[in-house]
Amino acid sequence: MTITASGSLPPSAPVAVQILDLLMGGWRAGVVSTFAELGVADGLAAGGLTPAQLAVRLGLEHDTAERFFRAGASVGLLRRGEHDTLELTELGRALASDDGSMRNFARWTGSTAERATWAHLATAVRTGRSPFAAMHGSGVWEFMESDPDTAAVFNSAMTELSKRVIQPVIEAFDFSRFSSVTDVGGGRGALLAAVLRKHPEMTGVLFDQPDVVSRSLPELSDAAVAHRVTVKSGSFFDGVPSGSDLFMISNVLHDWDDGRSRLILRNIAEAMHEGAHIAVVEAVAGLDDTADKAISLMDMDMLLLCEGKQRTVEEFRLLMAEVGIELVGVSRAGLQSVVEGRKVSGETGTPGSPRSR
Ligand SMILES: C[S@@+](CC[C@H](N)C(=O)[O-])C[C@H]1O[C@@H](n2cnc3c(N)ncnc32)[C@H](O)[C@@H]1O
Repeated sequence: MTITASGSLPPSAPVAVQILDLLMGGWRAGVVSTFAELGVADGLAAGGLTPAQLAVRLGLEHDTAERFFRAGASVGLLRRGEHDTLELTELGRALASDDGSMRNFARWTGSTAERATWAHLATAVRTGRSPFAAMHGSGVWEFMESDPDTAAVFNSAMTELSKRVIQPVIEAFDFSRFSSVTDVGGGRGALLAAVLRKHPEMTGVLFDQPDVVSRSLPELSDAAVAHRVTVKSGSFFDGVPSGSDLFMISNVLHDWDDGRSRLILRNIAEAMHEGAHIAVVEAVAGLDDTADKAISLMDMDMLLLCEGKQRTVEEFRLLMAEVGIELVGVSRAGLQSVVEGRKVSGETGTPGSPRSR
């Protein structure tokens, strides 16, 4: 039986080999994350080094490092150059610490907080609950507050990901119909900055937790939009600032179960005047088979970390209807979609504690 490490087997491969190959996907991911964690791409950035030189530069045990570099080459991150040197491939270069990098996302997926939680997927599927608190002592968001090192990697990973998805969103959705936009749970403002840069006549409100919005100035200043943004802080479980004619909420609802998501949407609906619009930016499930391959795995990640979920259009339609918002359209934006709703009545249901699922 031939076992490959390539991840690309011919369909004629025996099923046992295909299963082994699927399972080795976890090992391949481990090598990619460790490559990012050790800073191998940064170590090689200035040019080819021999394995021994690279091991010294990175402070690694010599023999083990040589074996690890072979594993890195087997997954396509490294190749041998002249005079026994190692060189980065294009994939390997994407793990260097520079603009457009995926280094922190690779570090996050290899972190104990994320990887060890995946070992408990069976418990999560049996119970429908996240095993995160039982494993790490608190829910994922409290954990981030108590572990600044992991939080820094996680936040940088989210910024790396959102930079990749912003452009398709601002191209797919017609923001020019609106004069003001509030980004609810808008993080450090990367999406809001991109929207305002494209639409110089619009103004924006960035709303997130105090410690998050306090770090938003560089993002807004770099895009030269800071003078058109009002920064507000608070919890979307307590309320959302009113006044805009569009409310955006990007990659937030998938972090929460239906009860909490309904409460967030209800608070947004309370802040919307009749006829105001909402744009929910998420990877929406059930739209096409290719996208669903990735989205169904993201769905498991959301379950494991925070009892969240990737939702279908129908699930969004129901959640919105419960708070007086009518779903009026869905725009595809790469892996993500923009689900658009319009407030149709003053009735948003009873604010208060989230209902259980
Ligand atoms: C996955 S991030 C998404 C950030 C950004 N919208 C994006 O698309 O990259 C979730 C955001 O929700 C914010 N958040 C979590 N709990 C919140 C709360 N109770 N009130 C306001 N924002 C909150 C987090 O601080 C974080 O910025």
